[in-house]
Amino acid sequence: MNLWLLTLWVTLVTAWVDNQGTTCTLYPESLTHQGQEVDDSPSIQQAFDMCGTNGTVIFSENVFHVNTVLNTTNLLNCDVHLRGELRFSANVPYWRTHAISVVLQDQVTAWLFGGHNVSFYGEGGFYNGNGQAWYNANRNESNQAGRPMSFTVYNSTDLRVDGLRVIQPQFWATFVWASKNVSFTNLFVNATSDSEWGTMNTDGFDSWQSDNLLVENATIIMGDDCIAAKGNTTNLLAKNIYCEGGTGVTIGSIGQYPEMPDYNLNITFENVTIKDAMDGAYIKTWQGTRIFTPSNGDWGGGGTGLVKNVTFRDFVMDNVGLPIQVAQCVYSAGSNKSCNTSTLQIEDVKWENIRGTSRFNIASSIYCSDEVPCPNMSFENVNITSLNATRGQAYYDTDIQYELFQCTNVVDHLGN
Ligand SMILES: *[C@@H]1O[C@H](CO)[C@@H](O)[C@H](O)[C@H]1NC(C)=O
Ligand SMILES: *[C@@H]1O[C@H](CO)[C@@H](O)[C@H](O)[C@H]1NC(C)=O
Ligand SMILES: *[C@@H]1O[C@H](CO)[C@@H](O)[C@H](O)[C@H]1NC(C)=O
Ligand SMILES: *[C@@H]1O[C@H](CO)[C@@H](O)[C@H](O)[C@H]1NC(C)=O
Ligand SMILES: *[C@@H]1O[C@H](CO)[C@@H](O)[C@H](O)[C@H]1NC(C)=O
Ligand SMILES: *[C@@H]1O[C@H](CO)[C@@H](O)[C@H](O)[C@H]1NC(C)=O
Ligand SMILES: *[C@@H]1O[C@H](CO)[C@@H](O)[C@H](O)[C@H]1NC(C)=O
Ligand SMILES: *[C@@H]1O[C@H](CO)[C@@H](O)[C@H](O)[C@H]1NC(C)=O
Ligand SMILES: *[C@@H]1O[C@H](CO)[C@@H](O)[C@H](O)[C@H]1NC(C)=O
Ligand SMILES: *[C@@H]1O[C@H](CO)[C@@H](O)[C@H](O)[C@H]1NC(C)=O
Ligand SMILES: *[C@@H]1O[C@H](CO)[C@@H](O)[C@H](O)[C@H]1NC(C)=O
Ligand SMILES: *[C@@H]1O[C@H](CO)[C@@H](O)[C@H](O)[C@H]1NC(C)=O
Repeated sequence: MNLWLLTLWVTLVTAWVDNQGTTCTLYPESLTHQGQEVDDSPSIQQAFDMCGTNGTVIFSENVFHVNTVLNTTNLLNCDVHLRGELRFSANVPYWRTHAISVVLQDQVTAWLFGGHNVSFYGEGGFYNGNGQAWYNANRNESNQAGRPMSFTVYNSTDLRVDGLRVIQPQFWATFVWASKNVSFTNLFVNATSDSEWGTMNTDGFDSWQSDNLLVENATIIMGDDCIAAKGNTTNLLAKNIYCEGGTGVTIGSIGQYPEMPDYNLNITFENVTIKDAMDGAYIKTWQGTRIFTPSNGDWGGGGTGLVKNVTFRDFVMDNVGLPIQVAQCVYSAGSNKSCNTSTLQIEDVKWENIRGTSRFNIASSIYCSDEVPCPNMSFENVNITSLNATRGQAYYDTDIQYELFQCTNVVDHLGN
């Protein structure tokens, strides 16, 4: 390319990044293309290239069409202001083949974001994942290959996300991976399906291999885990959380991979309301042997590790299937294969000030494996009443209604 061509090319591509010093303000291409839905991803990518270090990126109050993946990582001292709508395309085949790997469970993301000393402000703007296309394509299956997480924070330190709104997320709405000192405050997520197919796997906030995390003031309406601390999440505090639908707040699933032990320490969930959910405040691990699990879409089990110093405090349960739970064979209970084999140790877990209602005849089920009984499980001021004491809790993945594993292998500090 000669210099003239290069200049022309830069001018065209940068047309909708208005760059004033260290501030880049973004406008959508549709404004100059008679409203056509031209992909804004190249301009977005360019704004971060120009202003991602010691700068500010502003999404103006417009609709942006995000038709291709975003990789805006390695930012430094950067402020982002989201004032418009980021409308991710519903082109399922495209995302399935192009979304960026996040390694965990071979999953992927539509937007990889991160850096050092970064602030993301959702100032009236929002992320629209166009999730209905994914809910319909998914047909209530689990963990479908290539179904992307909406927003992934990766390889970051001192990063703040305040006021982010995610509506109709494609899959997990937010994910923090390989990061330290990250906060999500005033987070709003709403995954609601208007078809016969549910919002399976629309987790609200998940974390993996990350330390020192805060989630404060979140309203999450979803069809799976509201908040899930996956392997090597340490020092997580989640407070003032409202969860509606799905499966409550959890540590897990962990213990999926034998070659990667999971250490989940110092985790506190505080002031949490769980409404109309299958589960409430719980810990879930895989069994101790490796088996193929169609309900999770892959192989898993045999992973070891430690869950220690976990507190669930000040919870209100409102029509929750199983409010309090420890399950050490969450993907093999139905088949009853190797249920008693997990070597992932769970200890020092507290449920404090838990009140409200259970949908079935059961408030709590603590099941620790024979291999690693659980010391120091404590309950303080727990008052859960049943909405229908004659209705049994269905065994996972079946309609059998036994009361199973109500309290197994819970020991005191002397090992009794
Ligand atoms: C960014 O700011 C930091 C701290 O003020 C400074 O050390 C660094 O040189 C700046 N980087 C660039 C590319 O301007
Ligand atoms: C994302 O961008 C970074 C540069 O910030 C680059 O090093 C990395 O390879 C990119 N990752 C992918 C999956 O494209
Ligand atoms: C962090 O980034 C902000 C701009 O976003 C800047 O004002 C501040 O000085 C940075 N802090 C440090 C410690 O560099
Ligand atoms: C992770 O961030 C550090 C800076 O903190 C950077 O040096 C490194 O290249 C990043 N790694 C990747 C894979 O982006
Ligand atoms: C969530 O989205 C559904 C469907 O768009 C809508 O009916 C509902 O009002 C939303 N909930 C909130 C709290 O915004
Ligand atoms: C969370 O909400 C409480 C109560 O509304 C408020 O006092 C607090 O400042 C909020 N926290 C953040 C980080 O915005
Ligand atoms: C508890 O969380 C709710 C949001 O679910 C919030 O409205 C309330 O202010 C919080 N209470 C305290 C004491 O922070
Ligand atoms: C967790 O950290 C330990 C080292 O402390 C490491 O051996 C293990 O592979 C990590 N697991 C995961 C899931 O990253
Ligand atoms: C857990 O918290 C204690 C007390 O703050 C701290 O000493 C310890 O290092 C933390 N553990 C981890 C794994 O961060
Ligand atoms: C347990 O974790 C909490 C934070 O969740 C921390 O304040 C406390 O010091 C930890 N206790 C121990 C014994 O590490
Ligand atoms: C438990 O909660 C129920 C329903 O709110 C209430 O009627 C009952 O008095 C409470 N029991 C205790 C021991 O506080
Ligand atoms: C309670 O559950 C039983 C068994 O599922 C059912 O027959 C009964 O109608 C339920 N009662 C109410 C009030 O929902």
